[in-house]
Amino acid sequence: MEDRREFLKQLGCVAGGAALLAGAPWLSSCTPERIREISGEKARIALIGTGSRGQYHIHNLLLIPHARIVALCDCYEPNLQAAAALCPGAKLYRDYRKLLEDKDIDGVIISTPLGSHAAITLDALSAGKHVFCEKAMARTLDECKAVYDAYQKSDKVLYFCMQRMFDEKYLRGMKLLHDGLIGEIVGMRCHWFRNADWRREVPSPELERQINWRLYKEHSGGLMTELACHQIEVCNLAVGRIPQSISGMGDIVYWKDGREVYDSVNVIYRYADGRKINYESLISNKFNGMEDQILGKKGTMELAKGVYYLEEDNSRSGIECLIDSMKEKVLTSVPLAGPSWRPEVKGQYIPHNIVEGKISVNGGQNMIGVDNDGSDVILSAFCSACITGEKAVNVVEEAYCATVLCLLGNKAMEEQRTILFPEYYKIPYMKF
Ligand SMILES: NC(=O)c1ccc[n+]([C@@H]2O[C@H](COP(=O)([O-])OP(=O)(O)OC[C@H]3O[C@@H](n4cnc5c(N)ncnc54)[C@H](O)[C@@H]3O)[C@@H](O)[C@H]2O)c1
Repeated sequence: MEDRREFLKQLGCVAGGAALLAGAPWLSSCTPERIREISGEKARIALIGTGSRGQYHIHNLLLIPHARIVALCDCYEPNLQAAAALCPGAKLYRDYRKLLEDKDIDGVIISTPLGSHAAITLDALSAGKHVFCEKAMARTLDECKAVYDAYQKSDKVLYFCMQRMFDEKYLRGMKLLHDGLIGEIVGMRCHWFRNADWRREVPSPELERQINWRLYKEHSGGLMTELACHQIEVCNLAVGRIPQSISGMGDIVYWKDGREVYDSVNVIYRYADGRKINYESLISNKFNGMEDQILGKKGTMELAKGVYYLEEDNSRSGIECLIDSMKEKVLTSVPLAGPSWRPEVKGQYIPHNIVEGKISVNGGQNMIGVDNDGSDVILSAFCSACITGEKAVNVVEEAYCATVLCLLGNKAMEEQRTILFPEYYKIPYMKF
């Protein structure tokens, strides 16, 4: 929390802060100036969908001074009651349409399964509420377009939870790579590996599809919309362009348990100039964890770990330092032949931190969230915007681009063909 506050204080205030803000204008609703302006005011917030992610948001909301949770809605009683225990005094609803009639609500946070994002978002905007919806934007291409179009005509604030846009290590990393630290970007490799079945316990069989919604196509786009969505968005931000063609292969390799979505995907996104994103996700082996890797002519950035490596690095490696320090001490104690002596991985590449100090790293296993991964900052920005009415710069557009690309990834895998980005789903924000 302290680290995050320090980061937010720096926005627009100290050297480097203004430049960071210039490159990430969507942060404007959480600058210290804006937070000072709204001091003492509280956005009246309601949550629709109070399962794992909804309850995670509640924990963050309780720490945001300019937010008050006034209502909760869930159609599954145990999850509604679990959330109610965290927010005494909040009104409880079982039907989100009834909640939307409540005039004492400024903004709603939607954390329901993907299949219902578009319908609830559209209803909430029509009811005059500000909306923060979980990623991905929607389950189908047409739903994404409908939400995007509705937002163009709406005077309400709309956010999608693309938290990497609010994560300090990603933001500072983007700034460094846009300033040329790793040279021209020549490719990207993103992966997300887990070793878990994604299943939840179901109290009675008729609830299987409702509780394990992630496994069924009517509610979920599988690995692409659940995981890749965040990572494709990072690639789009890094190169400032949208891939033109998409091909891939998807299979159910290990979890043959009645699920409909792939447990193994490999998708290649190709930009007009030939650069590619190589995307891979597998949930029956976690050796490689999760990473968003940007490859430049002069270096490589691993944004999830918050480190970069340079192709020509004049700084000294750990092994060189160790040998030097041993030379200065007792040469005979150098354990060169010992079993503990291993070559450094990646030859001479030395990791440099993007952000100094302790940072949160997503090892890939956590489904709900990682502390300080930007989820609390984006939520704070939304609550501030519920008070000021300030629209989010580029957040809806980025969510639209990332979601459409993930859905096209699924389409390419299902149809086993290379897909060109369809004209109909292009928006003015996209540069190819
Ligand atoms: N941004 C991130 O990093 C991140 C992380 C985890 C989950 N998510 C997203 O959050 C969303 C929820 O995921 P989850 O793991 O919390 O799922 P979950 O199943 O734990 O919770 C979803 C809740 O929504 C409720 N619900 C379903 N339909 C509803 C309706 N019409 N009205 C009211 N409530 C309804 C369910 O009963 C359930 O309690 C998904 O879109 C998921 O992709 C995002």
